[in-house]
This record gives sequence, structure tokens and C-alpha cells, in this order.
Amino acid sequence: MKDKIILTGDRPTGRLHIGHYVGSLKGRVELQNAMDYKDMFVFIADAQALTDNFDNPEKVRQNIIEVALDYLSVGLDPGKITIFIQSMIPELTELAFYYMNLVTVARLQRNPTVKTEIAMRGFSKENSEEQQVFGSGLPVGFFTYPISQAADITAFKATTVPTGEDQKPMIEQTVEIVRKFNSIYGETLVEPDILLPSNNACHRLPGIDGKAKMSKSLGNCIYLSEPADTLAKKVMSMYTDPLHISINDPGHLEGNTVFTYLDAFCRQEHFGMFLPEYPNLDELKAHYQRGGLGDVKIKKFLGKILEQELAPIRERRKEFEKDIPEVYNMLRKGSERAREVAARTMDDVRKAMKINYFEDKALIASQAEKYRQQQ
Ligand code: TRP
Repeated sequence: MKDKIILTGDRPTGRLHIGHYVGSLKGRVELQNAMDYKDMFVFIADAQALTDNFDNPEKVRQNIIEVALDYLSVGLDPGKITIFIQSMIPELTELAFYYMNLVTVARLQRNPTVKTEIAMRGFSKENSEEQQVFGSGLPVGFFTYPISQAADITAFKATTVPTGEDQKPMIEQTVEIVRKFNSIYGETLVEPDILLPSNNACHRLPGIDGKAKMSKSLGNCIYLSEPADTLAKKVMSMYTDPLHISINDPGHLEGNTVFTYLDAFCRQEHFGMFLPEYPNLDELKAHYQRGGLGDVKIKKFLGKILEQELAPIRERRKEFEKDIPEVYNMLRKGSERAREVAARTMDDVRKAMKINYFEDKALIASQAEKYRQQQ
């Protein structure tokens, strides 16, 4: 019955923000608490973070605890699921090495996530031409991280990967690797499915500046652990509609960050609590579009909604911050358990590839027989 194996992870390059929250964390907690799965893993992808922070390992090292605290504070529960650190599972690198034989350079070059990330991270100065994007400055580790991600997923035989839309190409690449492996070596690995948030506005939450994506490097994030006063300040500074200059101008919803966030966070009951003069979000939007509704009012409303959502997370974080050694202890135990599971898959893989020489009695016997005949 319960045959789902859920797995997902995050790079520890900074604290997690509300884009991570609506895009994935919130859904994970719901999945966790629904208990409708065989197993569930959430991990801190430190090895993957090193593929583009190889020159700054300290940043990755410092942020492992930040991500772990964010996990615990949103309600991920090590009593129910396994939380671990990627680099503590050497089987993942071992698997990735064999998968490398199943993926062509051309296929990696077509991976849209790799393409845009290379451009973003400036591995290439001139990124207009494909040849230049994949120029000499690109580290092999970064280029091949989709293969490593396929190992993360398949090592646990994950069926379900709750994550953001930007990870779609990674899951597709994983499925291809699984199919290729199984067709060559026999049914061994499991094909995963991506699980996107059901609310469209949650797929890719823009930054407070209205830029495409909330990201640490753009400095446009609202962090989960944001103190109440900076949260309020950030909401007040949010990008809205540049054409909505005076209150009576008609306002636009398209690209209006405050309304995008309302689509992601606002629930019916928020009107009764914080804005009783409107019955629902549609009426609020209609008034904004007609003109006569000021930005400050909608920002204050959003600010109250976010504060209500983030206050308990902030409080829980403070509790976990009191015993940091215990958080590392939790990660150690989770990593030990994850390693056992990955080692079992690695055994299956070795058997399928027939590289389990010492267990292969038939191989040893047939070699012995061959040499006996030659004597
Ligand atoms: N690539 C993911 C990110 O940048 C992190 C990640 C690594 C991941 N391995 C994974 C996500 C496996 C899901 C499954 O956020």
C-alpha cells in the first residue's frame, strides 16, 4: 500500500527563504505528517553546493547548521523522517561514477538548468554562444552535477521528489539514467516523479524586487528566520506596479510582487482576521485594478499574513538554537541510517553490473575451471 519513497534536498549556501518554503518545505511537512509513505528522506546537499563553491568550502560548512535549523523550525521531524548530510554517504559518489558512463557530454550540455546556472555563476564571460558557455572555465564537477543528483535520488529508490519547477530538468535526466541503466543491466533502479506545489504562484516565488527568482545572490530574499521588524521593512519595500503612482490610478496585477505573494500565502480566513472590509482576494484585486486602493494597504495586509506564518517558525528555531550539538547529533544519526539504505542499493547495483566479484561464486568457479583445463 504505502509504497512511496519521498526524497528531496537543498544546497547549504545560505539560510532558507520563503521561496523555498512555499515551493517545497511546506509541502514536505504536509507529506511528512500525512504518513502516507514507506520512507522519507530530506538532505543537505553539501557536496553539490561544493560544485560551484569549491573555492569557498567554509560557506558550505557554516550553512549546514542553518539549513538544519530551518528544517526543524518548519516542522520537519527526525522522529518521522531521515534527515542527513549528502557527503556523509560515500555510496552517492560511487553510484555517480558508474552513471557517468550512461550520459553523453552533449546531453549534459542540453540540460537547461546547467545552462542557466553556468551563465548566472559567470563560469563563462561571454555566454551568448553555446561553445563559449561550455568554455574552459567550467569545472567538470559542476558540469556533471545532474549525474550526482541522479545518484542522490536513485540511491534511495525514491519514487517522489517534491521540489521546485527549476529542478524538472534534473528529474528528467535522472529518469533517462534509470532507463538506460535498467535496459543495460536489468531492472534495478526506480524512476522518480517530480512533485510540484499545487498552487501555481508557489512554483517560482519572485524576489521582493520583482526579479524572476528569490535568490541569495540577488539580495532579494525574505528568510524564514527573518526578525519581525526586517520582515515588515522588506514587505514595505516590495516592488508593485510602477504605473500605479497615485492611489486612484488603475493598478496592474501582472508582475506585481505583492499580489504574487498574496496568491501564494493568502487564505480566506486572513480577510476576517486582517482586512474585514474585503470578502476575498478577487474583490481586493478588482478594487486595485479599478483604482482607489493604495499599495501601503495591500502591503500591510501581506505583512500581517507573513508575520502570522513566520512567527511560529521563528520561535521554534530559537528553541532548537539552544542545543546546537543535539542538532548535529540528529544529522549524524540520520546520515548513518541513510548510509545503510544507500549501501543496500549499491549492493543491488554491483550485482546488476556484475562487479560484485567476491560474491560471484559462479565467476570464481568458471575461472577456476578454465584454468584447470589449461593445466
Ligand atoms: N539541486 C537541488 C537544489 O539546488 C538540491 C538537490 C540535490 C536535490 N540533490 C537533490 C533536490 C535530489 C532534489 C533531489 O535545490
